[in-house]
Amino acid sequence: MKIKEASLNAITEAAALIQKGGLVAFPTETVYGLGANALDGEAVARIFAAKGRPSFNPLIVHVPDLEMAEELAVFDEVARRVADRLWPGPLTLILPKKENSPVAELCTAGLETIALRIPRHPVAQDLLRRAEVPIAAPSANRSGEPSPTAPIHVIESLGDRVDLILAAGKCTLGLESTVVDLSQTPPAILRSGFIVKEDLKEIIPAIDYHIETTERPRSPGQTLRHYAPSIPVRLNAVDVRAGEALLAFGPVKFMGLVGGGAAADLPDTRIRHLSKEGDLHEAAANLFAFLRELDRPEHTGIAVMNIPETGIGIAVNDRLRRAAAAAAANQ
Ligand code: TXA
Ligand code: MG
Repeated sequence: MKIKEASLNAITEAAALIQKGGLVAFPTETVYGLGANALDGEAVARIFAAKGRPSFNPLIVHVPDLEMAEELAVFDEVARRVADRLWPGPLTLILPKKENSPVAELCTAGLETIALRIPRHPVAQDLLRRAEVPIAAPSANRSGEPSPTAPIHVIESLGDRVDLILAAGKCTLGLESTVVDLSQTPPAILRSGFIVKEDLKEIIPAIDYHIETTERPRSPGQTLRHYAPSIPVRLNAVDVRAGEALLAFGPVKFMGLVGGGAAADLPDTRIRHLSKEGDLHEAAANLFAFLRELDRPEHTGIAVMNIPETGIGIAVNDRLRRAAAAAAANQ
């Protein structure tokens, strides 16, 4: 495995690797992706193997522009308006697959639809243009771990399973893209993210969340176990129990320790502040890194303070609920 700062040379090397069927981890504004040539079935199979991902769970195909997007999927007027307004950005659209699509069948797990995204991050944009092929990329972590928001997470999670990591610091948003299904009526938000319902309402008045917990999901990945820390995760905590670490949001001066003491006096290893000022965007950007940092065997669990269910808070709470449920199932 090689790791390189995302210079022009490194991006050019990464594009060549993609064309040859290699695996490249690259930054997007949401999380780091594990990319391969979406037209090359063997390369795509290597993504599934590296992640330990079940093959029924389809991948997002990344493209540099609408022109390439329209070669892969059928855009109606609504889809075109959404794309015009919100791409490039942290948004994935599920659309009917174009007939005779050149994309490897494994990418779409045999579905009639395809997930497409034009990312905004300049390194992702540059890589996509130089590779000249669509790039299939799930988050660059092993299945069941939090998505990587910094190069170190990719190294820890995938190591030698990646040919090259393009490093460009921390991801600014830190949560995966909003997934919107435009292939069915009514259209629905299958995964919450930085783009919220209100951003889509103007174009699609009927849009609503359709977040999966049922057995016949519209988004195959949404019912899988996610983000499972190895210790229990306790949500909406108003105190810290013996041995627990604290994931704080906003001021902690009124948080006490069960048995006596103040959360403010916890040692650094036992507390992370998602945002001291109560800023939801800052909290979203910090969430996955801090979950990893507090997931240590010497902690009996992670107590998480209440996070408001508004704006990007909806997505933060969605990821936290999945982490709590998955951790509980692991105990
Ligand atoms: O921010 C992101 O979206 C990152 C970056 C790298 O783009 N990617 C990412 O990919 O989070 P992944 O594979 O971790 O999540 C993709 C989600 C999964 O829940 C998958 O089931 C769903 O998208 N998906 C993919 N194709 C689909 C389809 N045709 N229909 C419904 N859901 C689909
Ligand atoms: Mg993922």
